[in-house]
Amino acid sequence: MGNTTMVFQLNLLLLFLLVIQFSESSKPKLFNMFSSTNDKQHGNNTIWAVLVAGSKGYYNYRHQADVCHAYQILRHGGLKDENIIVFMYDDIASDPKNPRPGVIINNPNGSNVYADVPKDYTGESVTAANFYAVLLGNKTAVKGGSGKVVASKRNDKIFVFYSDHGGPGVLGMPSMPLVFANDFIKVLKTKHASRTYDEMVIYIESCESGSIFEGLLPKDLNIYVTTASNATENSWATYCPDMKPPAPPEYDTCLGDLYSISWMENSESEDLRHETLKQQYLKVKKRTYNNDDYGSHVMQYGTLGISKETVSVYQGSTRNLSSNPGQSYGSMGVVHQRDVDLYSMWQTYKKSREESQKEDLLKQIKEITAYRAHLDSSVDMIQRYLLASTHISVRGEGMALVDDWECLKSMVRTFETHCGSLTEYGMKHTRTFANICNNGFTKKAMEEASKETCSGHNMGKWNPAIVGYSA
Ligand SMILES: *[C@@H]1O[C@H](CO)[C@@H](O)[C@H](O)[C@H]1NC(C)=O
Ligand SMILES: *[C@@H]1O[C@H](CO)[C@@H](O)[C@H](O)[C@H]1NC(C)=O
Ligand SMILES: *[C@@H]1O[C@H](CO)[C@@H](O)[C@H](O)[C@H]1NC(C)=O
Ligand SMILES: *[C@@H]1O[C@H](CO)[C@@H](O)[C@H](O)[C@H]1NC(C)=O
Ligand SMILES: *[C@@H]1O[C@H](CO)[C@@H](O)[C@H](O)[C@H]1NC(C)=O
Repeated sequence: MGNTTMVFQLNLLLLFLLVIQFSESSKPKLFNMFSSTNDKQHGNNTIWAVLVAGSKGYYNYRHQADVCHAYQILRHGGLKDENIIVFMYDDIASDPKNPRPGVIINNPNGSNVYADVPKDYTGESVTAANFYAVLLGNKTAVKGGSGKVVASKRNDKIFVFYSDHGGPGVLGMPSMPLVFANDFIKVLKTKHASRTYDEMVIYIESCESGSIFEGLLPKDLNIYVTTASNATENSWATYCPDMKPPAPPEYDTCLGDLYSISWMENSESEDLRHETLKQQYLKVKKRTYNNDDYGSHVMQYGTLGISKETVSVYQGSTRNLSSNPGQSYGSMGVVHQRDVDLYSMWQTYKKSREESQKEDLLKQIKEITAYRAHLDSSVDMIQRYLLASTHISVRGEGMALVDDWECLKSMVRTFETHCGSLTEYGMKHTRTFANICNNGFTKKAMEEASKETCSGHNMGKWNPAIVGYSA
C-alpha cells in the first residue's frame, strides 16, 4: 500500500515537473518534437509581404499610392513592419506638384496612406535585382536599401503586390533593366526549391500582366496569382481628374488603378476571416471589367486550389473593418495606363494661367507624342522589314510569349541601341520582338533592320546610354 502511494506521488511529482518544464523555457523544444503540420494547426506561421511600385514621377502617382494603401491594409490586418518589405521610388509625397505635401491618397475621399510606410527600398535601390534578392531572402545580394528580405520559413505565407506599367513579358522598374517574366518565374522556382514558404499569393497590376504567367508559371509551386489584365490588353488608371468619380479638383493626376483599388477596397469592406481569395477574385474581376466600358479581364494562374483559403491568411485581418464606402460596381471613369502622363499634362495645361508654363507643357506634350510616333512607326517598319515576306507564326492564347528569353532581351537592346529607349509607353512592343525571335531571326538581322529604320534619328533624352537599357 505504502509503496503504491509513493509511486503515485512520484508520478505526480514527475508530471508536475514536466508541466513546469513544458510551460517554461523548453516549451519550444517540446513543440518541435511534433511535425510541422502541428505548427500549421497552431497557426504558427508568419505572413510576409513584398509591395512594389515600379514607377517614378508625379504622373505615375497612382502606383506608389496603390502600394502605400496596400501597406496600410496589411498593417491594419496585423502584419508586422519587420515582415513587410516596401519598394517605392518615394518621389511623390514631396513632389512640388503634389497639392497636399507629405500626403498620398488612393481614393478621392481617402486618408493619408503614406503615413508610417517603411522605406525599405527607395530611389535607385528599387531594382529588379533587389526585388529578386528580397524574395529569395538573400541579404548579401541586396544593394542599398534597408537590407530587409523575406527571411521566410517553410510554414510561412507570402503575399506579393506589384503595381506599375508593363508590357508583354515585362514589368516596369524606375531604374533599368525591367523585370522579365522568365527571370521572375525562375526566382519563384528557386524560392520553391528552397522550401522557405508554404504558399504564396501574388497580385499584379500592369498592362499585359497576364503575359508574365501565361504558359510560364507551373501549377505545382504553391503560388496563386491574379493579374489586372490578360496577356494581350492594357490595364486602367482611375480616380482621375474630371472623371466619374473624380480626383479632388486640386489634383492633376490619377490616384489609383482600377484592379488595385478594387481588391483593396474589397479587402477593406469585407470580413477577411470569411471571404475567400476566390470570392475576392470574382468581385475584383467584375469591378475591373467595368461593365465592359473600358475595363480589363482579371486573370488567375498557378495553384488555383489556394483560392479556397480566406484572404486573411495572406493579408491578415482585423475585427474593426473600415467604413470605406468604395466598392461601387457602377462604371468608373478610367484612363489607359500609358496615356495618364499626357492626360495629366493636359489637365495642368487647362488649369494653368501662366503663359510660360503653358508653353513649356505644350512643348513637352509635343515631344512625348512625337517620340511615341517614332517608336510605333519604327517597330512597325522593322516588323515589315523582317516579318512581312515570310510565313510568320503568331503564338496563340495560353502559350508563353517566347521560349528564348535571351533572344528577346537582345532584340530589345538592339532596338534601343539604334532607335532609342522603349520607355514606359514602348513596352507594349515587346510582343513584336518576341515574334521576331519566335520566327527564328538572328540578332544580326534585327541589327540591320533597326539600323535601316532608325539611322540618323536623334534620340535626345531617350538615349539608352543615358536612361539605361530595358534589358
Ligand atoms: C513556431 O515556430 C518557431 C520557429 O519555426 C519555433 O521556434 C516555435 O517553437 C514554434 N511555436 C509553436 C507554438 O509551435
Ligand atoms: C546570394 O547572393 C550572392 C550574391 O549574388 C550569391 O553569391 C549567393 O550564392 C546567393 N546565396 C544563395 C543562398 O543563393
Ligand atoms: C483578352 O483581352 C482582349 C482585349 O480586351 C479580349 O479580346 C480577349 O478576349 C481577352 N482574352 C481572354 C482570355 O480574356
Ligand atoms: C476597435 O476599435 C476600437 C476603437 O478604435 C478599439 O477600442 C477596439 O479595441 C478595437 N477592437 C479590436 C478588436 O481591434
Ligand atoms: C466621396 O464622398 C462623397 C460624399 O460622401 C460621396 O458622394 C462620393 O461618392 C465619395 N467618393 C468616392 C469615390 O467614394
